[in-house]
Amino acid sequence: MSAEAAARILDMLREREAPLSGAAMSKSLGITRSAIWKHIRSLRREGYHIEARPASGYRLVAVPANPTQWEIQAGLGTEHFGTTIYALPQVDSTNKVAFRLALNGAQEGAVVVAESQTKGKGRVGRRWESPTGSNIYLSIILRPKITPTKIPLITLMAAVASAEAIEEVAGLLPAIKWPNDLLIEGKKLGGILTEADMEMDRINFVVVGIGINCNMTRSSFPPSIKDTAASLQEALGREISRIALIQAILRHLEQWYTRLVQGRGEEIRGRWEELSQIRGKEVEIAFMGEIVKGKAQEIDADGALLVQEAGGEVKRIVAGDVHIRG
Ligand code: BTN
Repeated sequence: MSAEAAARILDMLREREAPLSGAAMSKSLGITRSAIWKHIRSLRREGYHIEARPASGYRLVAVPANPTQWEIQAGLGTEHFGTTIYALPQVDSTNKVAFRLALNGAQEGAVVVAESQTKGKGRVGRRWESPTGSNIYLSIILRPKITPTKIPLITLMAAVASAEAIEEVAGLLPAIKWPNDLLIEGKKLGGILTEADMEMDRINFVVVGIGINCNMTRSSFPPSIKDTAASLQEALGREISRIALIQAILRHLEQWYTRLVQGRGEEIRGRWEELSQIRGKEVEIAFMGEIVKGKAQEIDADGALLVQEAGGEVKRIVAGDVHIRG
């Protein structure tokens, strides 16, 4: 269905309590009444409760609680991010879907969200548990004109944007653990997986995948993450709106991304360091088959973590698992 027509039908119905006739909608949108009816039917399939009365018209009775494209876009407030949204019930991995779309030319800012993933991907080949209907699984396509060496900054930017969005919607600011873990009381609330299609000196596109445990309750945590994961519902004792959180993520992401492409990477590094509190801590990092131990320094201009070993040598870490000692 035409995304624009469906969105406008919903807007018109949202604006009023009283029923709106098919004829009025058809006139205002310049499409036939039967086209209006087809849109209404599709919206109903997506979970919109739209009443139809032969004499008076259509009335919106209830909207779905799950993040449909229309609910995310209503009042989103971004310039480009989320102009195109694929909201799907189940996928293998939103990153894989976004990657395929990007290969086929999807535009920057296009978003894929899913209710569940059968092959959710975590970092370093791990699995990302993705039960149905309670969490956020989101991937966004970016086409930044920056050098490939700066890709780690994109992950840091996504972590900062997600943490700020969580604070805005849930009133609770997660800590960031290098490079991309979002933590509450030391447990993993979310993570980011950045994947790129690039050549030696050029990025074709980047897919940033964000997973956040929202409304999973302790009893519904998959066994493999029961001891290590957190969810917002568990931390707050109430459900949060996934729609509001997705909207906030897209807004914060767009703001930080603008800074990134304007060459203001130092602002991302600064904010990331504030949220991570890693600087000066003794860390142990498994990186390229070796264990690097030392004191965490700053993030360098490309987003790598600098670690000073006991002998004074400074190592540049671009990937790996950080363990903070003590
Ligand atoms: C990690 O911390 O290991 C990264 C987890 C990233 C998970 C998200 S969920 C949405 C997107 N699709 C995926 O398959 N993975 C990312």
